[in-house]
Amino acid sequence: MFFKKKNDAPRVVPEHIAIIMDGNGRWAKKRGLPRNAGHAAGSKTFKDIARYCNKIGVKHLTVYAFSTENWKRPAEEVEGIMNILRDYLKDSKNYIKENIMLKFIGDRTVLPDDIKELMLTAEDDSKNATGLCCYLAVNYGGRDEIVHAVRDIVNKGIKAEDITEDTISEHLYTNYYPDPDLVIRPSGEQRLSNYLIWQSAYSELWFSDVLWPDFKAKDLDRAIDEYNKRNRRFGGI
Ligand code: FPP
Repeated sequence: MFFKKKNDAPRVVPEHIAIIMDGNGRWAKKRGLPRNAGHAAGSKTFKDIARYCNKIGVKHLTVYAFSTENWKRPAEEVEGIMNILRDYLKDSKNYIKENIMLKFIGDRTVLPDDIKELMLTAEDDSKNATGLCCYLAVNYGGRDEIVHAVRDIVNKGIKAEDITEDTISEHLYTNYYPDPDLVIRPSGEQRLSNYLIWQSAYSELWFSDVLWPDFKAKDLDRAIDEYNKRNRRFGGI
């Protein structure tokens, strides 16, 4: 869809933006605060950016909230992130009022029961929203996702010769929505870190030095402007 910025030419807004919300720990350290204060600030940025995406007509937003590797962090930090997620989920009615649909991708089976319940409630309450579809990746890892997909395919008895790229895509957590057009990673790191590795095969990548808690709508605008300058060929010419 097109979104006209004030005094500017129309531009294409990516249908699906995926974000690696990186830099919370460094943001907190710079301020002499505990790491979880950085995650709390990052959660506020996430809410602001999701609202902005909804406003400008992004259809799908997928954010990396907790990876399959993040369990290696100190228990206090893991607990802190889970508490931020809990608070967010308890508050999710506000989002629903704004016509934002909430979904979760990742392996939920090992998450605390109350979080699983809250996720189901948020998904159910928001299922009729027609604005932004917002997906939080929780206990998500791209390789783990592919392993799950392969196990499902084998368990269904699908024959090797019948397996196509579509078969794999259809067994990923993201099977019901399009691949990301644009993947954003702030905080100066330039890698995917196991995020949507299958789905981002043809995504445009955009990196910024801004730490996630400091990321603002204007930074998203810069990413979208840069996206508009890219020439997506999908392997063609
Ligand atoms: C990466 O920064 C961030 C995470 C591992 C967690 C992100 C989680 C949130 C923003 C809160 C989740 C909750 C909701 C509701 C979205 P880092 O800790 O690796 O930062 P660093 O590289 O500076 O140490």
